[in-house]
Amino acid sequence: MVKVLEDIQELGIVPVVVLDDVKDAMPLAKALCEGGLPCAEVTFRTEAAEESIRIMAENFPNMLIGAGTVLTTEQVDRAVAAGAKFIVSPGLNPRVVKYCVDKGIPMTPGCSNASDIEQALEFGLDVVKFFPAEPAGGLNMIKALAAPYVGVKFMPTGGINEKNVRDYLKYNRILACGGSWMVKGDLIKAGDFAKITELTKEAVAIVKEVRG
Ligand code: 3PG
Repeated sequence: MVKVLEDIQELGIVPVVVLDDVKDAMPLAKALCEGGLPCAEVTFRTEAAEESIRIMAENFPNMLIGAGTVLTTEQVDRAVAAGAKFIVSPGLNPRVVKYCVDKGIPMTPGCSNASDIEQALEFGLDVVKFFPAEPAGGLNMIKALAAPYVGVKFMPTGGINEKNVRDYLKYNRILACGGSWMVKGDLIKAGDFAKITELTKEAVAIVKEVRG
């Protein structure tokens, strides 16, 4: 497994961030670091994503910043140039996956069924995102999929929160869980970064409690 994914495994949780305004990038990165989770998947759903990645990567060089919702190779280039160390997508776009694999860029494509996983294996990947985790069958579905694909680890994202994250983390085929519950848009908009730090600390405590 590549180093970045090992680091993500170590952290156990990847905050999934939607930033509408680049001014929030600095305080958000600071809040996550103070909460003990120096990591973020910044989603390419907003105009602010690329510059936010740049700001976070430059000012917090020890943070593990990735780009999420990456749908095109052009977005891969923009994300990596801005400082993203890993790429995440909601589905498995073979063109985007191949582009990342050829360039040695860590990539976790979204998979929600056996055929998706086999495509990922074809590209030599051994870690996939499981998306959307709760609607797509949650932990039971992951366990069913993990059985035949013995070398694959999962990063479930979508519908994970402080209540159900423990169950996911207890399963040894979960690399880490993605989620937005500690970085909700309303908290960011309200500038309540203290609350984000508090929720992040709680998330970190759950990882420690489950994984030791
Ligand atoms: C998303 O699609 O925004 C991510 O999967 C995060 O999902 P969540 O908001 O349910 O944690």
